[in-house]
Amino acid sequence: MSEYGTFYGVGVGPGDPELITLKAKKVLGRMRCIFTPATTKHGKSRAYEIAKEFISPKAVIKTLFFPMTIDTKICTRAWGKNAEQILSILMKGVDAAFITLGDPMTYSTYGYLLKTMQSLYPHVNSITIPGVSSYAAVAASANLPLVQGKEVLTLIPGNTPRRKIQQLLSLSDTAVFIKHSRNTKNLLHLLGKRGRYRKLVYVNHCGFEDQVITSNPSPELLEKTEYLSLLIVKKSSR
Ligand SMILES: C[S@@+](CC[C@H](N)C(=O)[O-])C[C@H]1O[C@@H](n2cnc3c(N)ncnc32)[C@H](O)[C@@H]1O
Repeated sequence: MSEYGTFYGVGVGPGDPELITLKAKKVLGRMRCIFTPATTKHGKSRAYEIAKEFISPKAVIKTLFFPMTIDTKICTRAWGKNAEQILSILMKGVDAAFITLGDPMTYSTYGYLLKTMQSLYPHVNSITIPGVSSYAAVAASANLPLVQGKEVLTLIPGNTPRRKIQQLLSLSDTAVFIKHSRNTKNLLHLLGKRGRYRKLVYVNHCGFEDQVITSNPSPELLEKTEYLSLLIVKKSSR
């Protein structure tokens, strides 16, 4: 048996604390060391804000800094440094958890962190607890079935090249645009030009107090589109 502690990757859902799974709640309640991601050195962790009521008061909270950049060298350095910090705790035989927004296996820093830890220490014992993904929560908030029967669903990150987006759209019945906040206006322009969508749902801050859901985002809203926003388009009106 390994003398290392177990590493838990915990998805805390997209915003509403009530969407945290029972499994996640149990793990958070018994962990004595919890790592939270932040994108600025002294920044707040959204995952922590969602999960804090379920975390034991005895737990030590450690913030890990993940820079928001596409520079692979900077990212790789951050993943390595953060993975080593977690491993140093596990090496003492203590269990630790990393909490992350939505589902840990969907566009999450957790995926990179886990792979880095596994390459530094291949025997690391890790358990991933899935979370409700942002697009599942958004579809539920809008009472919008994502796909039915033979329909095809495609998840498209906002920085996908325009040509590839066009190809993907022609193959999909429903498309979910995620991480699109820097590109929303261009996306809406492209979608408007194609004009084949019966449904469009745009959501800002799903599950938070200032949640906005609309099928017709105003220019003012688009002007202040924030990182936590999601766009769903459907060819059918069902
Ligand atoms: C790095 S990805 C994380 C995705 C997450 N792991 C998941 O399962 O949904 C961040 C993107 O997810 C979407 N997102 C996450 N939470 C959201 C929320 N509460 N409301 C709207 N969009 C959200 C946004 O598009 C945001 O830019």
